[in-house]
Amino acid sequence: MIRADRVIAFRSDRTVYQYGNRCVKVYTRSHSDVDVLREAMNLAAAGEAGVPAPRFIEIARQEERLSLVMEYVPGETLAMRMASGRYTPDSCLRILTQAQLLIQAADASCFSGQREELRKKIGRSGLEDTVKRELTERMDGMEEGDALCHGDLSPENLILSGRGSPVAADWKQAFRGSREADAAAAWLSLDMAQGREAAMAYLEIYCRASGADRETVMRWVPVMAASRLAGSFRREKEMLLELLGASRKDGEQ
Ligand SMILES: Nc1ncnc2c1ncn2[C@@H]1O[C@H](COP(=O)(O)OP(=O)(O)OP(=O)(O)O)[C@@H](O)[C@H]1O
Ligand SMILES: [Mg+2]
Repeated sequence: MIRADRVIAFRSDRTVYQYGNRCVKVYTRSHSDVDVLREAMNLAAAGEAGVPAPRFIEIARQEERLSLVMEYVPGETLAMRMASGRYTPDSCLRILTQAQLLIQAADASCFSGQREELRKKIGRSGLEDTVKRELTERMDGMEEGDALCHGDLSPENLILSGRGSPVAADWKQAFRGSREADAAAAWLSLDMAQGREAAMAYLEIYCRASGADRETVMRWVPVMAASRLAGSFRREKEMLLELLGASRKDGEQ
């Protein structure tokens, strides 16, 4: 067996390796074949839509584990750049926003519609039925949209390859739908990883650059938080639940 050059990311249910110019994401059996194929499908669709994404190579099965094989994109992530302190947070958030607007403007016809995707994920969230219903109704009351949404465009998932536009990795949450929902997903990732100040700064920058409405983005936040509960790790789950509680109380005022 060829040895991996290094482990890029390790999670309890998947590991990302670099093998020369290839990047391989190996899933444990807790992932269904459909989940892995959907992520691969999204990655291939992003390539066909012409957005900067690692090139899809193949799906392989070894000892019952599925692997997604794609091109390895060299470079630091936007998260690394933010942590280096060499650049202002706003300049980094502008890079994130520009990359997101480029993706959102691309053809999304090969992606699943957001309502179908989010409804399934909220269904698996483990939240009480009344809360699920409330969030699903909120989603149904919002404009559906037909933008190409990465669904988790966080600084960790954006690679500054130094050859043109930043490259977006991790397409498992992608969908065709509302750009405000996509902005809410990015807001959530920033809030959890970098804190509220960074999330609010992003919201300002994104809304100014896109013309999107701040309140609409924030109305999507609880829906997107619920959609991420299934499959999230303990710490993330705690943060999402706390945020959902706070958002519901805010909404009641
Ligand atoms: N093709 C690639 N080339 C280079 N680096 C990559 C590539 N794909 C992913 N990475 C890096 O590996 C990290 C983990 O990959 P990815 O986000 O796809 O895995 P994940 O475990 O599903 O992520 P998450 O924990 O964010 O859900 C990414 O944040 C990115 O920095
Ligand atoms: Mg990721």
